[in-house]
Amino acid sequence: MTDSLTVRDNRTGQEYDVPIADGTIKAADLGKIKAGDDQPGLAVYDPGFVNTASCRSSVTFIDGDEGILEYRGYPIEQLAEGSNFLEVAYLLNHGALPTKAEFDAWEHEITYHTFVHENIKTFMEGFRYDAHPMGMLMASVGALSTFYPDARDIHDAENRHMQIVRMIAKMPTLGAWSFRHAQGKPFVYPDNELSYTANFLSMLFKMSEKTFEPDPRLVKALDVLFILHADHEQNASTNAVRSVGSTQVDPYSAVASGVGALYGPLHGGANEAVLRMLRRIGSKENIPSFIEGVKNGNEKLMGFGHRVYKNYDPRARIIKKAADDVFEVTGVNPLLEIALELEKIALEDEYFVKRKLYPNVDFYSGLIYEAFQFPPEMFTVLFAIGRTPGWLAQWLELVQDKEQKIARPKQIYTGARRLDFVPASERWA
Ligand code: CMC
Repeated sequence: MTDSLTVRDNRTGQEYDVPIADGTIKAADLGKIKAGDDQPGLAVYDPGFVNTASCRSSVTFIDGDEGILEYRGYPIEQLAEGSNFLEVAYLLNHGALPTKAEFDAWEHEITYHTFVHENIKTFMEGFRYDAHPMGMLMASVGALSTFYPDARDIHDAENRHMQIVRMIAKMPTLGAWSFRHAQGKPFVYPDNELSYTANFLSMLFKMSEKTFEPDPRLVKALDVLFILHADHEQNASTNAVRSVGSTQVDPYSAVASGVGALYGPLHGGANEAVLRMLRRIGSKENIPSFIEGVKNGNEKLMGFGHRVYKNYDPRARIIKKAADDVFEVTGVNPLLEIALELEKIALEDEYFVKRKLYPNVDFYSGLIYEAFQFPPEMFTVLFAIGRTPGWLAQWLELVQDKEQKIARPKQIYTGARRLDFVPASERWA
């Protein structure tokens, strides 16, 4: 067996041997295939990069058919069970688990960079009273680049580390303040005595008490949710971070573009749609007619199906367990009963089985967030905080990858050519 592809170009009758490596061929090799010397080389047309590898990466592995997700080789189930979000953030960005000393230093660094410049506070206060928290987050992450102009030196390893620490540390502060702004409540400063996730809850919910003491079960559940969202290889927002990062801009600008991509309903917004759907169904009795509607193509079962997973999304399984822990504290979300019944029916129904449609990460996450009393606009902010270490790990990999170039796809031009320009004074005469 030879690891190559033989291509015969029927326009010229010429044959080409294109090497296959890692299950891919190089687009540049296809570029050598030409209909004539003065003709452009062959390119691939792939809107949405559905079948195009844009990088080599050792950060996250996904096997969608088997329902496997691993960060740096560690299964998501084991990380969710035994690790914590800051350790996972370290793992993603350093490529290996920390020693005790490394973890302590990392935790210390992150904790002591949670504060932001006072002018950021003033700047955030200037948003309209009903500003969407994702818009506020995107703008304030981008604004960090003006507070840390040193971040432009992306070729210096120590400098990169500094910005990674700052961003992971400040994201909960910016996210919590976006939430408080919409509520008309004063911003709460970070409490460095609390853990990363407990401090986030404090900045969200603290009122006049001296120290905010969140229920440890809620802290643990939110920490697990952050772990589950920490990376998902080349998804739309990570691709945005890499694409913008490929221009060698500072990482705050690159991550702000990732927040923008996540803001879109096709990416970060599905859990909100699940809640709306469950509310519309209203009660268990209405499920059969809803399922019929899905099968007739009039409805979509939100929170089901995935571009990559053709099996149970491993994150959905863990989230289901986290939901139980949260509801133990907050009381059961009445929509859970409908969700569980919906899942049971869908997993047995031929329509869903045949199409390999299983619950994805968003099927249960909205229910949990609602139990925390988050309004739906905040769901994506939580996703962004969780995803930040992944965006940064991918950015770090990108800037050190000698094979990477500025992202600049090709197009197939379909417009007019060689028109003669007539000045407005003549056209409008
Ligand atoms: N409900 C009903 N039918 C569905 C669903 C669904 N949720 N998802 C897919 N199908 C059907 C689809 O109609 C098609 O049927 P047919 O072969 O008869 O035309 C078949 O399943 C294949 O679907 P597809 O649209 O080709 O699959 P895709 O890979 O392009 O889309 C998806 C994946 C996630 C966009 C889609 O499953 C969907 O819209 N799901 C609901 C929205 C959702 O939950 N999104 C969150 C994704 S997870 C978030 C993350 O990881 O960031």
